[in-house]
Amino acid sequence: MEDYEKGKKAQEIIAEVPIIDLAGLNQSPHQRSCIIQQIRKACLEMGFFQIINHGISQSIIEGTLTSASDFFNLPAGDKNKFMSRDVHKPVRYSTTVTSLTDGVDSNRVQFCRVLLKHYAHPLDKWVSSWPAKPPHYREKMGRYCVEVQRVATEVMGAITESLGLGPTYLSEKMNPGVQVMAVNCYPPCLPQSDIPVLGLPPHCDYSCITILLQSCPGLQIMVPHEEDDQYTSTWKLVPDGVVQGTLQVHVGAHLEVLSNGLYKSVLHRVTLNSQRTRFSLGSLHSLAMDEKMECAEELVDDQLRPRRYKGSSFRDFLDFLSANDIGEGKSFIDTLRIKDQ
Ligand code: OGA
Ligand code: NI
Repeated sequence: MEDYEKGKKAQEIIAEVPIIDLAGLNQSPHQRSCIIQQIRKACLEMGFFQIINHGISQSIIEGTLTSASDFFNLPAGDKNKFMSRDVHKPVRYSTTVTSLTDGVDSNRVQFCRVLLKHYAHPLDKWVSSWPAKPPHYREKMGRYCVEVQRVATEVMGAITESLGLGPTYLSEKMNPGVQVMAVNCYPPCLPQSDIPVLGLPPHCDYSCITILLQSCPGLQIMVPHEEDDQYTSTWKLVPDGVVQGTLQVHVGAHLEVLSNGLYKSVLHRVTLNSQRTRFSLGSLHSLAMDEKMECAEELVDDQLRPRRYKGSSFRDFLDFLSANDIGEGKSFIDTLRIKDQ
């Protein structure tokens, strides 16, 4: 209960999220290097930032939110045919209403989320396996997926550049990489009992980066700060963007690995709104299914900064997920840490 109470208060603490103007990446070399520095600072300090001027039109953004809400409004029978507990399935619908421990302390917390998850890149490989209802779903969602994949490639290039590895360091591995679209629906919710309710438990994403579109606030991130000369961290609410169509970028576990721990994956969770249904689309970008992400050799120094993580692939994560419950606080990145250095 205590953590939830902190969480409720956290809804009032708004995170100061860095806003990165992607238009600056394609202007003068000086402008680009300013933006690269801003990205480096955001990844070092928060593992999280917002992007504007990403080139995805407002009509594509609104179209994809409409296709998501229209899917969730379908009769149960149309959705349940995608229902599966097998996390390896390329298209999967699930509803989670659970009562578990939240992994931060041992208090009981309930979770409430409806999810449609599907692979998206390359689009022509996957689109025919997506829901055929609502009729515009494939077209509208498909347009957004293609656009967000393009943005992810650009942002990953800027991120590897910010690590001193150059803008094309990962391009050849990201192009055939996995894009998973997590289409989330969080119904309005008032706790019925004294068991608090969250949308999603605290977790880090297993992607290199995740690009999130949200219909309204609800996402909280753990933000480190100094208090009374001590380092601590607090849940803070991610605000709406100042600009319409702002997207949220999370540093995921595989970027933490690539950077040898320089950039930390951001711990986040979702709170529920008591009045309105919230939709979010998380686009998770990783290397190909069996391609291992390793620490960049350039960022490993046996004396000064030894290798901190073992290599792992996206499939390794899926195998971990099917054997463990992140709702119980198990974290994939913890299994990758090299101990006793
Ligand atoms: C996720 C996630 C956040 C949100 O799907 O991994 O963290 O706001 N989603 O729905
Ligand atoms: Ni997440």
